[in-house]
Amino acid sequence: MCGIIGYTGNRNALEVILEGLKRLEYRGYDSVGIAVGNHEIRVYKRRGSVSALESDIRKTSLSGTIGIGHTRWATHGEPSDRNAHPFLDCTGRFALVHNGIIENYQEIKEELRSKGHSFTSDTDTEVIVHLIEDLYEGDILKAVMGAVSRLDGSFAIVVMAAGERRLIGVRKESPLVIGLGEGENFLASDVPAFLKYTNRAVFLQDGDIAVITANSWKVLNFGGEEVKREVTDIPWNVESAEKGGFKHFMLKEIFEQPYAIMNTLRGTSSLYLRTVDENDFERIKIVACGTSYHAGMIGKYVFEEMLRIPVDVDVASEFRYRERIREDAIYVFITQSGETADTLAAARIARRMGHRTIAITNVIGSSITREVDEVIYTNAGPEIGVAATKSFTTQIVAIYRLAQHIAEVRGLAAHDDLWTELRLLPRLVSNVLQRHSEIEDIARTLKTAQNMFYIGRNISYPTALEGALKMKEISYIHAEGYPAGELKHGPLALLTPKTPVVALVPPDRTYMKMLGNVKEVAARGAPVIGVGAEGDEDLIKYVDRTIYVPRTRPIFYPVPISVALQLLAYYTADMRGCEIDKPRNLAKSVTVE
Ligand code: G6P
Repeated sequence: MCGIIGYTGNRNALEVILEGLKRLEYRGYDSVGIAVGNHEIRVYKRRGSVSALESDIRKTSLSGTIGIGHTRWATHGEPSDRNAHPFLDCTGRFALVHNGIIENYQEIKEELRSKGHSFTSDTDTEVIVHLIEDLYEGDILKAVMGAVSRLDGSFAIVVMAAGERRLIGVRKESPLVIGLGEGENFLASDVPAFLKYTNRAVFLQDGDIAVITANSWKVLNFGGEEVKREVTDIPWNVESAEKGGFKHFMLKEIFEQPYAIMNTLRGTSSLYLRTVDENDFERIKIVACGTSYHAGMIGKYVFEEMLRIPVDVDVASEFRYRERIREDAIYVFITQSGETADTLAAARIARRMGHRTIAITNVIGSSITREVDEVIYTNAGPEIGVAATKSFTTQIVAIYRLAQHIAEVRGLAAHDDLWTELRLLPRLVSNVLQRHSEIEDIARTLKTAQNMFYIGRNISYPTALEGALKMKEISYIHAEGYPAGELKHGPLALLTPKTPVVALVPPDRTYMKMLGNVKEVAARGAPVIGVGAEGDEDLIKYVDRTIYVPRTRPIFYPVPISVALQLLAYYTADMRGCEIDKPRNLAKSVTVE
């Protein structure tokens, strides 16, 4: 949930770390801190943003060529100056930043207190640096190794020690990556933190301890033996992780979708998946959270329609604690970040049960890739806006590709035309994007709304759920997605002329039923925004405003319609003056349960 950056080299570490923290702010942003210093460590930290910290620091004479930094999204202890990272030990000799949760911190805290340690925060993190101090006998690496062997929970930590040129990083169930530069090296929770300086990275695995200096790096296991880790060239450049000319990352990412989808199509053009190629299975189980769960629900309609295989979709946090019955099934885990704690736990359970598992993710080297048998990458590029956009539509495209692949392996009736049309999706999405001004105009009508409904049937039902989620998370309008057929079982009671309804009415087998629902809604005086296929003249008769998307096959409508709904949410939120890229109380990647 939080962001970590560590630097050792010849530059001014302060500048590198501030830059890295800005790139990481999307991972956690309630407080921020920095520790720099070659001989003596100095720490500056506070509640608030990186730019607030930067203006504090500019008034000081902080300097050094080694340091660590952290942006926080609180888990233990409220967001405050004293709970911000980095933490120092009692002597001020060691500084540490941490991402994750230490489950047994209370027990360790009591033990250390009895030995005379005093604590300044409510966090679980602070115990780690005191534990290091307690175990230190002249070798910082040994002290860190001793400390982490005592910790239960998940953590990525980076430790610096006064007078040392080394940084030590440890990874257990929370991401940590080494960035390899020329005469400088980095340790970060995420690649964008150092992408300005290098695109060569080493993804650490669980149980790895990294030791970096300006000119060297090595990885050890918890037993102290050196282990081999590969260097990966990251195909992203800094520009792709920055806003470009757009007002917000979210808007930039919405507009990147034609390219992102093209990349997904390219990367999945010839799948080889032992899981489906060499195995028979009768069911598909999909498990995910948030927006990825909506992609999973769309997947249910796609797989059932294309493959005639029964599909179950579960929210990962529910799956974890339900009774599980072994079935002849493969599991598909969908997670853009690859780090969502509940999805990872669900993947472990499925594996323990002996199931074959596939992940659909956007992040190379993410934790999910090590928890499953096979991975399909969406290749959407980094997504900074907290609200998922391109990561979502590319997940849907990966699902189409998986369906296509299974259909081919099983020799099911050829759907050649369908798959040809799949390749047109980037063009369809560009077409929707060109209509952005019309959508912006419609968003004006929503500016003052307090409640909204999104309705759809069949595959447009999960599309409606995702449309409503986008609206609520960034504009703070209470928006609910509903299967249109359920309106009469409750929501109709809430409709008034002040409750706009977005009705998804593409031409599919439920089209006439949807028109019926639109009439039902309009009869209650609710303003209706109809989203339908270009050229559908009938729709205009029943709705107040219309958003058209280009015609395509019914199973492909979730992609262009979702893009239109993303724009609708974006413009509405922007007109309401919301913090679009960092909605309140939300984080991009939820690495705690
Ligand atoms: C958070 C993000 C959502 C995302 C969800 C699941 O809530 O804000 O955008 O859909 O986590 O994340 P995942 O990385 O597993 O797709």
